[in-house]
Amino acid sequence: MDAIAVRKGEHEPSVIEVPKPEPEANEVLVRTLRVGVDGTDRELLEGGHGEFPAGEDYLVLGHEAVGVVEDSNGTEYDEGDVVVPTVRRPPNGLNRYFERGEPDMAPEGEYSERGIVGAHGFMAEYFTSSTEYLVKIPNEQAPLGFLIEPISITEKALCHAYASRSAFEWEPESAAVLGNGSLGLLTLAMFVQSSKFERTYCVGRRSRPDPTVEIIEELGATYVDSRETPVDELSNEYEGMDLIYEATGYAKHAFQTIDALAPNGVGALLGVPDSWEFEIDGGRLHKEFILHNKALVGSVNSHIGHFETASDTLDSLPESFLDSLVTGVYGIDDWEKAFADDDTTIKTAVEFSAYEER
Ligand code: NAP
Ligand code: BGC
Ligand code: ZN
Repeated sequence: MDAIAVRKGEHEPSVIEVPKPEPEANEVLVRTLRVGVDGTDRELLEGGHGEFPAGEDYLVLGHEAVGVVEDSNGTEYDEGDVVVPTVRRPPNGLNRYFERGEPDMAPEGEYSERGIVGAHGFMAEYFTSSTEYLVKIPNEQAPLGFLIEPISITEKALCHAYASRSAFEWEPESAAVLGNGSLGLLTLAMFVQSSKFERTYCVGRRSRPDPTVEIIEELGATYVDSRETPVDELSNEYEGMDLIYEATGYAKHAFQTIDALAPNGVGALLGVPDSWEFEIDGGRLHKEFILHNKALVGSVNSHIGHFETASDTLDSLPESFLDSLVTGVYGIDDWEKAFADDDTTIKTAVEFSAYEER
């Protein structure tokens, strides 16, 4: 069967032929419908993140998948069920993080990530998965089910950010997303849809006209160009932000977030930057952090509960937003377009087979 993979030493993906997988006990065989592409896939191709499976010289890409159970293999699943797989798997048998259903909290070495770290991903005509790492979603979500994994990333990050503010009466009024990539825009739409904030912002570094700026403004949020208003000056221009969600992978933003937060605010950091040395005034930032009760939480990955909430969230997002966000879904004949990295490409997916309701 066809799979889209990156070979060792290469920085571009290619189509390769791999054997169709056979489900083992407690696994089902899934026919892949669509698999999304995100910034992590691009970081992986550049070589900044990720790991090849042990002893192999290629990695099948793809961690944002939706598919249909083709062979339920005697499990509780029915053939025809539409499913989304989670990303992490235990590398050498279960460990305590997986046992308690929190693989997203496992430290390095205690997980692999399908399509990213040490395990093949879902960009193939079929994949197998143990049933405990699958979430069944409504059939109607089949076309956009590949958005559930990225939404689940934000569900988790917000869970942790809100938990960090749960010891007092926190009434956030403003929220800013750093980054106008697919994760940033999905998160901005979630902020707007939640109606929790009087003011919402999204920070990018592009000039108008730009499709992401149009999406931001269509959502009713304010676009901020970081070349004109650097993140650490956000609070001078717009007052401090109660909640900041960093989705740029631009390392300075982690520290600039401290200044951009309002007193008692929280910043969730999601980006996965490469090593980068730069100067900061550590003493001033430390003091700012303390005297204004600020919090920063780092967040990676997500677990089953976040995927379930994400499926509900997907239903709540405006159709017009989703139509503008997904700029292309490409079949195996022109899959390369899904990896385009230009200003007109926002969210893309590769389609391996079309969904047909039984
Ligand atoms: P993406 O498509 O590459 O988006 C990043 C966006 O940030 C781009 O639109 C980029 O703008 C913008 N940006 C970068 N530097 C900026 C700056 N200095 N000022 C303003 N905007 C800036 O990636 P994504 O898929 O949305 O993901 C965002 C980040 O989150 C990535 O680092 C990814 O690895 C990470 N991520 C983490 C998790 C997790 O579990 N923690 C999950 C998913 C993704 P231009 O396009 O104009 O360059
Ligand atoms: C994926 C997460 C993963 C993270 C770090 C993200 O793009 O969506 O599932 O944990 O990258 O590898
Ligand atoms: Zn991702």
